[in-house]
Amino acid sequence: MQISFQKTLGESSGTLVLGVFEERALTRSAQIIDSQIQGTLKKAIENSPFSGKKDEIISIVAPHGIQNNQILLVGLGNPKGMSSLDFQQLGGKLMAALCKGKDTQVVVDIMDDKIRQLPEMIANVAAGMNLRSWKFDKYKTKKKEESHLKELVFITPEPTVSEKAFEPLKHIAEGVALTRHVVSEPPNILYPESMAEIASELKRLKVGVEVLDEKHMKKLGMGALLGVGQGSIRESKLIVLEWMHGPKGEPPVAFIGKGVTFDTGGISIKPSNGMEDMKYDMAGSGVVLGLFKALALRGAKVNAVGIMGMVENMPSGSAQRPADVVTSMSGQTIEVINTDAEGRLVLADALWYTQDRFKPQAMIDLATLTGAISVALGWEYAGIFSNNDELVRKLTDAGNNVGEKLWRLPMGDSYDKDIDSEIADVKNTGSGRGAGSITAAQFLQRFVNNVPWAHLDIAGMAWEKKGKPLVGKGASAFGVRLLNEFLMKYYEDRT
Ligand code: BES
Ligand code: MN
Ligand code: ZN
Repeated sequence: MQISFQKTLGESSGTLVLGVFEERALTRSAQIIDSQIQGTLKKAIENSPFSGKKDEIISIVAPHGIQNNQILLVGLGNPKGMSSLDFQQLGGKLMAALCKGKDTQVVVDIMDDKIRQLPEMIANVAAGMNLRSWKFDKYKTKKKEESHLKELVFITPEPTVSEKAFEPLKHIAEGVALTRHVVSEPPNILYPESMAEIASELKRLKVGVEVLDEKHMKKLGMGALLGVGQGSIRESKLIVLEWMHGPKGEPPVAFIGKGVTFDTGGISIKPSNGMEDMKYDMAGSGVVLGLFKALALRGAKVNAVGIMGMVENMPSGSAQRPADVVTSMSGQTIEVINTDAEGRLVLADALWYTQDRFKPQAMIDLATLTGAISVALGWEYAGIFSNNDELVRKLTDAGNNVGEKLWRLPMGDSYDKDIDSEIADVKNTGSGRGAGSITAAQFLQRFVNNVPWAHLDIAGMAWEKKGKPLVGKGASAFGVRLLNEFLMKYYEDRT
């Protein structure tokens, strides 16, 4: 799909998109068209429930007196209250509506002086359309007719300003697309080694990529991570990404992702119903990967490292058992009560490795860690757990800016006691008295020293079941835009 920005509306034949403010007030550009087609737009609005409220859309098919096959009117609501996120979401909804049509060319003209920062806002509409247009049809041998949209043209008073604003947004969307891609791939195609190969492609963008194999991890003493992978014929990997383009000598911000490429539960096996969902149990690592692609493409002036703990959790003769005791890289011993509480075991070693090697200024881990997080928060917010109020504030704020919302849950000593083991230093599940997401976070914290740390439980957010403005059904890449914004706002913008 080709996206371009132009100053004037030339002849076009496909769909023309025009804007309407609340209370049926046509934008400037809509007024001009309306006068050319004898008030058809006004008449259409008067004869429909459409009133220009935010995100309302109506279609006028085969309008008389103009070349276009279709005019779409989109509601802009009150232009004063609209943020760049609102414009992105508008673009997303527009794209969802356009996918149902069959035009190959779409021209979007929502010009009006009442919209502040108009050229930038138009770039945000483009970004929203771009994000929503992603789909995964790699395994469809008969591509649906609907992959028809080829050309998107945006009318803007200042094309170069719009283009400049679109640049980073386009790069972020490419990172999002990579995340959605790896999360969507089936587990026979995407496993630790193939993920490492995909990650290695980022070398072309000057991202440092290192892959630690089992032998290497064994040497480092990563008994917790290796225990999870020992039942699988696929070799576990630890993938390390480095993007150090910020101030020299400044410690990096570290992002750690859970990368369980398939979670059967292991010997504590999951019920077969819905087990297929567990291909996206590597979404945390997928987010880290997409984030680094976005950082590299847009040349972010920041020091960042990404650590992806890649394993497959399978039952077999060599699999870890409930009751096994493993020794983690930190030296702490862990009693494995439930082999399905595997993500925390992987992260225990990944977190320890990260702080040990990189001495980061902050560590943020992402993991589809617990089903319990959706019991608490549903599918609206990811859970955030942290030892640092400031870090929570920054991450929550960044999430609000991009529409990836976080809600903090408590931590504390009484929860921590719940994971004391009778025979080892710690056990990998609580004693079943509720708060499953919190005891999981407490477990992680046992592997965090004095570093500002936040844990994002994205189990409810990684896979979109219904469709939202910026994401259709499927892998959401929740976290990529949030973490990009977090870095951009709090670590790059130091003027
Ligand atoms: N990968 C799952 C969590 C999950 C559930 C992710 C649903 C995405 C959607 C995790 O490894 C798991 O199995 N957690 C257990 C923990 C329990 C055994 C303490 C859970 O949530 O039931
Ligand atoms: Mn599990
Ligand atoms: Zn899991």
